[in-house]
Amino acid sequence: MKKNILVTGGAGFIGSNLNDELLKTGFSVYSLDNFDAFYEKGTKQNNIREALFHPHYRPYEGDIRDAKMLGSIFRDHNIDTVVHLASKAGVRPSILSPEEYFDVNVNGTLSLLKAMQEAGVKKLIFASSSSIYGNNLKIPYSETDVVDFPISPYAASKKATELITHVYHHLYGINVINFRFFTVYGARQRPDLAIHKFFHKLYTNQPIEIYGDGSTSRDYTYIDDIVKAIISGIAFLDNTGHAYEIINLGNSNPVKLLDLISHIEDVSGRKFIRHHREMQEGDVNLTFADISKARKLLNYSPDTGIREGLMKFRKWYESNYF
Ligand SMILES: NC(=O)c1ccc[n+]([C@@H]2O[C@H](COP(=O)([O-])OP(=O)(O)OC[C@H]3O[C@@H](n4cnc5c(N)ncnc54)[C@H](O)[C@@H]3O)[C@@H](O)[C@H]2O)c1
Repeated sequence: MKKNILVTGGAGFIGSNLNDELLKTGFSVYSLDNFDAFYEKGTKQNNIREALFHPHYRPYEGDIRDAKMLGSIFRDHNIDTVVHLASKAGVRPSILSPEEYFDVNVNGTLSLLKAMQEAGVKKLIFASSSSIYGNNLKIPYSETDVVDFPISPYAASKKATELITHVYHHLYGINVINFRFFTVYGARQRPDLAIHKFFHKLYTNQPIEIYGDGSTSRDYTYIDDIVKAIISGIAFLDNTGHAYEIINLGNSNPVKLLDLISHIEDVSGRKFIRHHREMQEGDVNLTFADISKARKLLNYSPDTGIREGLMKFRKWYESNYF
């Protein structure tokens, strides 16, 4: 029997996909989620519907800022590693409520780290973000680049969280991987994110908004590649005595917004109604990951190209929504 993993944000997009794979590979999963209202609770309940039947899956509905509850999870179960995905996600909404983003993302992580320290749990994987690079001029983005110039409260909260995980590594020997995810997509993708939103608009004959001239690019990364890397990260922390690593997880192959739109049209056989809008505050122009560190440390090799990923997404979308 493999170890016990606590996954925060376990009912969300990345968390629920990760949990399914962890269960398949023999881990016991403790999933903590407060079903935050950022998007529908029903969608998240759907994400975990099958896992609920698994004998080694135990869901907790609660908040990472609830120290008492965290203490009891750590006391009652012999948690080996925490994969911390719970977060207020989304760049644009963070501009409207920065306090909330800092409270959940930074104070929430602090509450988790304190509970880990008190319980003697020594391994943490944290979901940081490519948004931390801001409008970095040097490409591709490397973990050694200076990331002191975030352009949204969300990005600043991720940077602050990377810093506080280092403090707990230094003071209490918690071993950490901060993964910087680059625009993740695939089955169960958050409905606010571009690919899911575009499919929804396409299939319901609503116009899409194209911000800027369509040349903004994202390093879209398929969920299965991300999940595989997180599981390699768990093994890496098992085998490495003392670790504090920041690791990019991207596809290293940015796709322009207008190209993404054409790919979706090809893959679906439908045509978008397009509305052009000004660029929005907080959005970066480009994300592009240097993934050599992930390749070296984790044998990471993202092998889902954008066409294949979009075809898989279409299949999931149609079977869930049509
Ligand atoms: N999806 C991406 O492209 C992407 C890119 C970079 C980083 N990330 C990060 O990866 C993580 C997972 O993202 P996702 O896309 O799966 O988002 P998601 O919103 O689907 O999942 C996050 C989950 O956290 C839960 N949550 C929020 N606040 C909580 C709290 N206070 N206590 C307990 N649970 C709480 C939510 O209910 C949600 O289910 C997040 O930390 C996000 O910032 C995601």
